[in-house]
Amino acid sequence: MASLRATMNTLPPVSLPLAGQVALVTGANTGIGRVIARELARQGARVFLACRSAERTAEVQAEIDALPGARPAPWLPLELGDFASVGDCAQRFLDQGLPLHLLVNNAGLAGARGLTRSGFEMAFGVNHMGHFLLTQRLLPALRAAGAARIVTIASRAHRRVDGIPFEHLREPTRSATGIPEYSVSKLANLLFSAELGRRLAGSGVATYAVHPGVVASDIWRTVPAPLRPLFHWLRRMITVDEGARTPLRCATDPALAGQSGLYWSDGAPAQPSPAGRDEALARALWQHSEDWTH
Ligand SMILES: NC(=O)c1ccc[n+]([C@@H]2O[C@H](COP(=O)([O-])OP(=O)(O)OC[C@H]3O[C@@H](n4cnc5c(N)ncnc54)[C@H](OP(=O)(O)O)[C@@H]3O)[C@@H](O)[C@H]2O)c1
Repeated sequence: MASLRATMNTLPPVSLPLAGQVALVTGANTGIGRVIARELARQGARVFLACRSAERTAEVQAEIDALPGARPAPWLPLELGDFASVGDCAQRFLDQGLPLHLLVNNAGLAGARGLTRSGFEMAFGVNHMGHFLLTQRLLPALRAAGAARIVTIASRAHRRVDGIPFEHLREPTRSATGIPEYSVSKLANLLFSAELGRRLAGSGVATYAVHPGVVASDIWRTVPAPLRPLFHWLRRMITVDEGARTPLRCATDPALAGQSGLYWSDGAPAQPSPAGRDEALARALWQHSEDWTH
């Protein structure tokens, strides 16, 4: 009986819902991205982990290896603040010759200050510009999948700003906390996802922007130390597993297949702020982002 159970444990489950699907998750070594990557792998997807550090990604790889029937999850080096690294990451994936059914633009930082290696305000450069370029470069593989989804983790924080300060995006972070700049970057995530959805209409590739909730992840580590207790006190934070629920629903629920370009929160479509619904602003952001990445 024990040997039968041991044999059963090594056999791949017969019909995992995402068997045959290929996914790429950015920032998959911790927080919400780690849960998303693990759950996609648990459901049978082959998941590429696009992260900064091989060492920090190894734990997630081991976690995925231990799942019954899961495919090994390769690491793709990715530093989103550096266009050369983003280009290399996309090329390493494209070199596999695989279709890409699911791209999860998850990685992000909040409260970090400065300029990225590619010369953008830190939050905007990492959270928006890096993902803009990565998505552009991966589009051939997404189109090749026939039906594909791009889930971009935005935030309710986009409501705290009413526009994109284009004139300051190529300067180091101006605020002392980096929080206003984070909010701009999350508005950019939202506008990007909506504009991409419009541009990909009819292609089979659908886009979803998601607010995951206020999550007790590592993201608060870069917020200036004196502010951290205030953040925890002001908001009841949910767990990373809870925070991954809406992104995972957008990534996998067959009922959501046609619902491209929307903003999701608490498992349902939500109304973005007026700036988040501004199509002219989305087009302006797209044009700038395209000019800056060419
Ligand atoms: N936590 C929340 O309450 C909350 C709320 C709304 C939206 N979000 C969004 O949810 C997403 C995931 O956040 P989280 O809470 O899970 O944060 P987290 O635990 O801090 O994880 C962030 C991930 O992004 C990666 N990352 C940061 N900077 C990077 C860079 N320059 N290049 C490549 N990867 C980079 C980190 O890698 P390292 O480990 O190497 O630093 C890490 O894997 C973010 O987009 C965030 O804005 C979070």
